[in-house]
Amino acid sequence: MADISSLARQTNDLDAFWLPFTPNRAFKRAPRLIAGAKDLHYFTPDGRAVLDGLAGLWCTNAGHNRDPIVAAIQRQAAELDYSPAFHFAHPKSFELASRVAALAPTDLNRVFFCNSGSEAIDTALKIALAYHNVRGEGARTRLIGRERGYHGVGFGGISVGGIVNNRKFFGTLLAGVDHLPATYSREHQAFTKGEPQWGAHLADELERIVALHGASTIAAVIVEPMAGSTGVLPPPKGYLARLRTICDRHGILLIFDEVITGFGRLGHAFAAERYGVTPDLLCFAKGITSGAVPMGGVIARENVYDAFMRGPEHAIELFHGYTYSAHPLACAAGLASLDLYRDEGLFERAKSLESRYADAAMTLKGLPGVLDIRTVGLAAGVDLASRPDAVGERGYEAMERAFHDEDLIIRITGDTLAIAPPLIVSEGQIGEIFAKVGRVIRAVM
Ligand SMILES: Cc1ncc(COP(=O)(O)O)c(C=O)c1O
Repeated sequence: MADISSLARQTNDLDAFWLPFTPNRAFKRAPRLIAGAKDLHYFTPDGRAVLDGLAGLWCTNAGHNRDPIVAAIQRQAAELDYSPAFHFAHPKSFELASRVAALAPTDLNRVFFCNSGSEAIDTALKIALAYHNVRGEGARTRLIGRERGYHGVGFGGISVGGIVNNRKFFGTLLAGVDHLPATYSREHQAFTKGEPQWGAHLADELERIVALHGASTIAAVIVEPMAGSTGVLPPPKGYLARLRTICDRHGILLIFDEVITGFGRLGHAFAAERYGVTPDLLCFAKGITSGAVPMGGVIARENVYDAFMRGPEHAIELFHGYTYSAHPLACAAGLASLDLYRDEGLFERAKSLESRYADAAMTLKGLPGVLDIRTVGLAAGVDLASRPDAVGERGYEAMERAFHDEDLIIRITGDTLAIAPPLIVSEGQIGEIFAKVGRVIRAVM
C-alpha cells in the first residue's frame, strides 16, 4: 500500500494528465494553473486575479460562477442526479428544448441534446444523411465543409473541417467530403470592422462543387457563420444568404455551426438572426450553460424532424443519442443561463458594446508586426507576423506573457490572437483588455 507521502507526491504530479490541444512539455515546465473564478476574473492558486479575455473557451458568456447558475446546479444535483436518456425523460429537458427553440428563428424548433460541440456536429451530419435516406434520397451522402473551418474533433467534424493539423494525423477521415474555399483574404479585407464587403462571390464555389459531384449526391453544407477558431473570420456581406439560395436550388441541407456564435457572441441569440439566414440544422454548445456543465445540441427545422416521424409508433425514428443527452445538471444550468441572458439583457449588451469593442481592438493597428485585425460582435482576431522559421512561436509567447505578465487570458491559433470576453464585460474592462494585449504585442516583437 502506498504511504501518505507518496500519495501526496502523486496528487501534485503533473505527469499523468495529458492536456488537450496543449504543448504538454512546455506547459509542465511552466504551468498556468487556475483555481477559482468569479464574473470576469480567474484566480490562480497563489491568489492572483486574471482577466478572462476569452469567456472560458468561448463559453462562459454570462461570466464565471454566477450565483443563479451555481444554485440551479446545486439544487438539481440534490433533486435528480440522472435519469435514463433513452425511453425516459425528465421535465427540465422539455423546458430547455422549448426555451432554446423559442430563441431560434422561425421553424427551427426541434432540439436534440448532446454534450459538446463536437457531438453536436456529428449529430447534425448524421441527421442530414439520415434525413435524405428516410426520404428516399439515400444517394445524397456527400458532405461539404470549408477550408479554415473548425467543427470540433470527432471524425465527422475533422472531415468537414479545414485545419490541416487537425486532419493530417488521423488517416483517411470520412469519404465523400469536399470543401468550399475559406472566405478570408487579407488583400481585400484587412482591418475590417464587422462583415467585409469583399467575398460574397466565394459562395458560388458551391455551384462548382455541385457541378462536379452532382446535386443528387450531396447531403449537406456546413459552415460556421463566423469562423472563430481560425482567428475570427466574419462572413462577407451577403455570403451566407447566397449559400442558402444555392442549397435551396439543389435540395442540399444547410448546417450552421453556432457553437461559438450561439448565445450572444454576435449580439443576437444566434448568428442566423443577425444575418437573416435560417439554416436547416443549427449546432450549439458552450454558451447554452455558460460553460458551467458540458452540453451541446442541434436545432432542426420542423420539416426535418417531421421527415423522421413515420413508420410504426413503437419504433425508434433516429438511431442516435448519448447516455448524457439532456443530462439533468446540464438542463438546470442551461435554464439558469438562459434566464440570466434574458434578465440581464446580455445579447443586447453585446450588440450595444460592439462598436466600442471594435474601436478598442483597432487601437492595436499600427503596432509592430500587426498584420490584420478583425472584429464582429464581442470577438476580435489579431494576426501577428510570424518569426522566420518559427510559425506559432510568437503567438505562444504572447499567450504566456499575457498570463504571467499581464494577468490576462487570450486564445491563440498559430500567431493569431483571439479576444472574446464574457458578455458582462464593462467598457472600462474592454479598454483594459486591449491595453494589456497592446503591451503583450510590443513585448513579443
Ligand atoms: C465552431 C466550433 N464547432 C465545434 C467546436 C467543438 O466543440 P467542443 O470542444 O465542445 O467539442 C468548437 C469548439 O471550439 C467550435 O468553436
